Amino acid sequence: MKALILVGGFGTRLRPLTLTLPKPLVEFGNKRMILHQIEALAAAGVTDIVLAVNYRPEVMEKYLAEYEEQYNVKITFSIETEPLGTAGPLKLAEKTLGKNNEPFFVLNSDVICEYPFAELAAFHKAHGDEGTIIVTKVEEPSKYGVVVHKPNHSSRIDRFVEKPVEFVGNRINAGLYILNPSVLERIELRPTSIEQETFPSMCADGQLHSFDLEGFWMDVGQPKDFLTGTCLYLASLSKKNSKLLTPTSTPYVHGGNVLIDPSAKIGRNCRIGPNVTIGPDVVIGDGVRLQRCVILQGSKVKDHAWIKSTIVGWNSSVGKWARLENVSVLGDDVTIADEIYVNGGSVLPHKTIKANVDTPSIIM
Ligand code: GDD
Ligand code: MG
Repeated sequence: MKALILVGGFGTRLRPLTLTLPKPLVEFGNKRMILHQIEALAAAGVTDIVLAVNYRPEVMEKYLAEYEEQYNVKITFSIETEPLGTAGPLKLAEKTLGKNNEPFFVLNSDVICEYPFAELAAFHKAHGDEGTIIVTKVEEPSKYGVVVHKPNHSSRIDRFVEKPVEFVGNRINAGLYILNPSVLERIELRPTSIEQETFPSMCADGQLHSFDLEGFWMDVGQPKDFLTGTCLYLASLSKKNSKLLTPTSTPYVHGGNVLIDPSAKIGRNCRIGPNVTIGPDVVIGDGVRLQRCVILQGSKVKDHAWIKSTIVGWNSSVGKWARLENVSVLGDDVTIADEIYVNGGSVLPHKTIKANVDTPSIIM
């Protein structure tokens, strides 16, 4: 089978991390975002993956060549000369997607869940219509695409409303689809939105179905949601008794759901957890307190620092007795001096912070 992953867009909402790496390469739960998806697609029998991008993918090429071999899949880039939105890229890749006239998967690159691709394909083939989208329930549906059904309990979607201003329902588009090649005939080669144009036209013809997602789901395209998504992901690993998690019997683990790369070093008398990921080559000093946070590769957290609800970007350094909280995000190679307080600061790469950041702000 085939799949297309929409990896365009500049990931501006995930700055300052995306100033260093494209969003799909940012590590989520110590594994690059896109690798979570490639793994799940390969496991469901996908052999051809198209990455739809609108920038030169040099940085990505290097990593993906490695994954091709590891997962025995063919990965190609489909490069747009202007951003084609969420539907245009499908038309651009029509030659590949339309091959052998079998259904193909489409993924938003920033959604995380347990990706039930095999079940989705089976359900799609069973109803026989043109498309199926995975849906999940959320409390705040206004920033998503919402699906509305007729009250007859069928899976056929009656209406699709992208980013509704008024409440129409709370079952939303999870950003994961399976479509028949005939859908490509509905799309023109121009900047166009699958949510605003293609799905409404399919609904009007009774050709779009929903498939209910089980388990957690999150769009991790912004820091606050990235942290929430990390908590959900770690909880799901814990439920599966995953060997990836650091055992709760470890003296410094507090409250569980802690994921530490084996190459990281942890000092004495630390208290870590719940909901913490620590990347490769990270060095944590003595007496450090970490909770609900992500520490990316190569960073240093010095003695007695206190970090909560924060993403520490790669190769950064957090000073002794520093306190970081309230969705602070440090870019690559940031230095936080000793005893500094950062409240909701978004710090651009290569900066040194020597004065407290008392209110949420961007430091450039
Ligand atoms: N190739 C390409 N070209 N990809 C693009 C472009 C483009 O011009 N524009 C956006 N994308 C990619 C993004 O990188 C992302 O993976 C996906 O398309 C969706 O774009 P977002 O910008 O993340 O959209 P959203 O989060 O506001 O809304 C979408 O996702 C929600 C679920 O997270 C919609 O699909 C909603 O209906 C959905 O509920
Ligand atoms: Mg998104």
